[in-house]
Amino acid sequence: MNDRNSDYVFLSYSHNADIKELLALFEALHYNIVYDDSISYGEKWDMNVRRYLKSEKCKGVIFLFGEDAVISHAIQREVDLTMLFRRKHFLLFLDNKDFAELRESLSGRMSGEEEETFDIIEDSFPEERIFVKMRDLSPAKLKQVFDEWGLRPEEDEQLVQVRYSSRLSGEKERLDSQQRGYYAFDKKALDLVTATFDRDDLCVLDLGCANGALTYSRFCEETRISKVIGVDCNAEDIEEAKSVVGAKDARFAFYTLDLESPDLIEELNAILRQNGVEKADIVFSALTLHHLKDPSLLLLKLYDVMSDEGKIVVRGSDDGGKLCYPRSELLRELMDRYGKIVSASDRSNGRKLYSQLYNAGYVDIKMLYSVVDTCGKDRREREWLYKVGLAFRLSRIDEMLACNPDNERLRAERDWFERTLTEFKNAFADRSFWYCNTSYIAIAGVK
Ligand SMILES: C[S@@+](CC[C@H](N)C(=O)[O-])C[C@H]1O[C@@H](n2cnc3c(N)ncnc32)[C@H](O)[C@@H]1O
Repeated sequence: MNDRNSDYVFLSYSHNADIKELLALFEALHYNIVYDDSISYGEKWDMNVRRYLKSEKCKGVIFLFGEDAVISHAIQREVDLTMLFRRKHFLLFLDNKDFAELRESLSGRMSGEEEETFDIIEDSFPEERIFVKMRDLSPAKLKQVFDEWGLRPEEDEQLVQVRYSSRLSGEKERLDSQQRGYYAFDKKALDLVTATFDRDDLCVLDLGCANGALTYSRFCEETRISKVIGVDCNAEDIEEAKSVVGAKDARFAFYTLDLESPDLIEELNAILRQNGVEKADIVFSALTLHHLKDPSLLLLKLYDVMSDEGKIVVRGSDDGGKLCYPRSELLRELMDRYGKIVSASDRSNGRKLYSQLYNAGYVDIKMLYSVVDTCGKDRREREWLYKVGLAFRLSRIDEMLACNPDNERLRAERDWFERTLTEFKNAFADRSFWYCNTSYIAIAGVK
């Protein structure tokens, strides 16, 4: 904001108008807006405004019209300069009143000079100009106008990313609660792959097993599986997995391992040997690939730890697989803005699974889908969908803010998310609101 060295849009407004909300919107969309907040009307003001409007960096002007602005000399001067320098412009009516409505509401209250100013301002704008009432303004509309003017959003200040950990606040409970919803889906995929083996001593590798609780619930009743090896880069989680799950069931073993390690295959083969197994029969991984910088590389490498009959089962999620109505656009915006903040994980991972497996050379790929929606669900179930699908994002942004405490833009985003998530929370409580989420499992074979 107010950076005159990069491309900008000039904001023309009366200082009596409250434009805080609008400025927050520009800020959130990362547009550079220049406005004369610190200079008062006078000679210096005139010189400065002339300079701002003449500059090649000025891509256009937004006029904010309300009762004060339409009778203001200063605004009239800005209108004149905009026309003189042929700047693109559009008009926004702050109190949702257009020129005719403003004239009516000011009637009998304007001096002769003010009436003349109003006339000059109104006459300056041909009717085909874009007039927007404040209530009709949307981020999409602004983006469209700024795109036409050639104004790009400013580059994001690089945020320090928080590496995903199931120890982030509330995350364990969320994963646990989420898994209850996924249990039947995972079982369907596991039944399909175990049915392809004619042995009963199968060995499973669970990549990204967190603290093992979900690994246990997923595999403990699989009688055809005799060994489950869980790996995760989070050492604390692995210690917990060993002491809780490993201690109660000898079929389960856990190891700290970074799936991005250059020596991954040697390390995994050593782990398999320690467990008396030559190769893994089933490689399972849920909601983990999207945390890796190069998931395709991992898929390529895994060949070397899988038996010839081996099967891979990957469950992913995708923010694009979330739909709702009403508020469809707001949900899209929420996902887009979240993706820009939390760029450490790929929020569009579900749609890529098929191609990633195909390109890595796997065969006989099958895609399974699990769709859950709010239809026919009671209030508690709807709240659960809100919690696992949307609400967790605010605590993730809070973690980011803790690592980027001086980032004002992130703070403004956090406020936007808080407001927007509250709106969604209320929407989920409303039985007329529909929300639907699709999850994805890809199954494939080695040969
Ligand atoms: C969203 S959790 C998924 C946990 C569990 N698989 C489930 O079904 O919900 C992602 C897990 O991947 C692990 N992870 C992320 N990056 C990893 C890496 N490079 N190496 C190993 N584990 C990783 C995290 O520590 C976390 O436990």
